[in-house]
Amino acid sequence: MSFLARLGGGCQMNDIKKRNEIDSENVTENEIYIENVSYIPPLLEVQGLTKLFPVKQGIIPRTVGQVHAVDDISFTLERGETLGLVGESGCGKSTVGKSLLRLVQPTHGSVMFEGRDIVGMNRGELRALRRDVQIIFQDPFESLNSRHTVRKILSEPFIIHRRGLKAEEKQKDEQGTEAERKQNETLSPKAEREKKVCELLNRVGLDESAANRYPHEFSGGQRQRIGIARAIALKPKLIVCDEAVSALDVSVQSQIVNLLLDLQQEMDLALIFIAHDLAVVKHVSDKIAVMYLGQIVETSTSEDIYRAPKHPYTEALISAIPVADPTRRPDRIVLKGDVPSPIFPPSGCRFHTRCRYALPRCSEETPLLELATDNSSGGSAACFFWEDLKLPHSQTKEIASK
Ligand SMILES: Nc1ncnc2c1ncn2[C@@H]1O[C@H](COP(=O)(O)OP(=O)(O)OP(=O)(O)O)[C@@H](O)[C@H]1O
Ligand code: SF4
Ligand SMILES: [Mg+2]
Repeated sequence: MSFLARLGGGCQMNDIKKRNEIDSENVTENEIYIENVSYIPPLLEVQGLTKLFPVKQGIIPRTVGQVHAVDDISFTLERGETLGLVGESGCGKSTVGKSLLRLVQPTHGSVMFEGRDIVGMNRGELRALRRDVQIIFQDPFESLNSRHTVRKILSEPFIIHRRGLKAEEKQKDEQGTEAERKQNETLSPKAEREKKVCELLNRVGLDESAANRYPHEFSGGQRQRIGIARAIALKPKLIVCDEAVSALDVSVQSQIVNLLLDLQQEMDLALIFIAHDLAVVKHVSDKIAVMYLGQIVETSTSEDIYRAPKHPYTEALISAIPVADPTRRPDRIVLKGDVPSPIFPPSGCRFHTRCRYALPRCSEETPLLELATDNSSGGSAACFFWEDLKLPHSQTKEIASK
């Protein structure tokens, strides 16, 4: 019997339909054909991602150890979805983000973007990838060239990717109104860039006159808007926001977060939102991954993770979210000790040196990140005792209800 299987990120048997049940004209280029079976890969699929940084010592440097920055992590992300990646400073969040764009070269593992392996890409392929995958950093001042005007900064993506853009731009122009098509036909490349720079500035809520100014002439929030404008210039499919709002005050944070969410809806963008602040991540994420010392210790939907965290580390992070009611003494869980060195991560469960529920088994065996078997919406946790612990024990219940 001849079947055409059309499978999303998670392959489901009932997604398999008979060939004549599927309109073959709707099959997109993102589908990979294997004989008579088509498979739509997730937008992003990370498997066993590991990054070890060598530790060197001596006058003639030699490697004496390794920083386990990211250790065997896996996750998937669908089109238009938002993943919140949270954890303490140094747990490897930025290294994950940079690995997705190959700004750092992973030591092991695979990173597949629309079915293409990023880890093995050559320079040309990487350049093409960076039209689709962008990153926004915490400090836009560092990532924007201070000697360039905003016009130049925002024109650069169009100049760098010019050749690859032609076909896409042509296709887009053909979709516009008759008047727009005529106008585009008569524009020179420079005038076309100028038009796009103005469109980008308008889109991120800045005046067109901003094009003539330099990054230091803007506030932090405005600079982050310029960073976002540059990131969306080529209409990417995924943006990694690495602490993109951490340096901003609370009211500006929410403006930038709202801007990102609007853009996400308009462009069907997927976002990876890296933050320490679980409160910010809660309102933007579809799902959340909690990292500790290079590993993911819990994943869940954003609703479930606050309502019923499964890992003691997640419970502690949630308890650290400030509560608005001044009459309530915060029931905060203070983790004992410092974060252990990522050069010598603890044996067994890496969290056992700070976990208030640790038992002897925790330092001897390593818990795997396993799918939770309760009735929650498919989260996973790396703790031997999550079912017995019945978390949360603290104010996390109150936070979840807000
Ligand atoms: N280029 C590098 N060489 C050596 N070690 C590195 C390098 N980059 C990062 N590390 C180490 O890898 C670990 C993870 O760093 P990373 O920047 O990914 O953490 P992070 O979770 O983003 O922290 P933060 O929240 O402070 O930004 C840290 O111990 C860091 O010191
Ligand atoms: S496995 Fe043990 S140390 Fe690790 S989180 Fe669970 S209870 Fe704590
Ligand atoms: Mg970081």
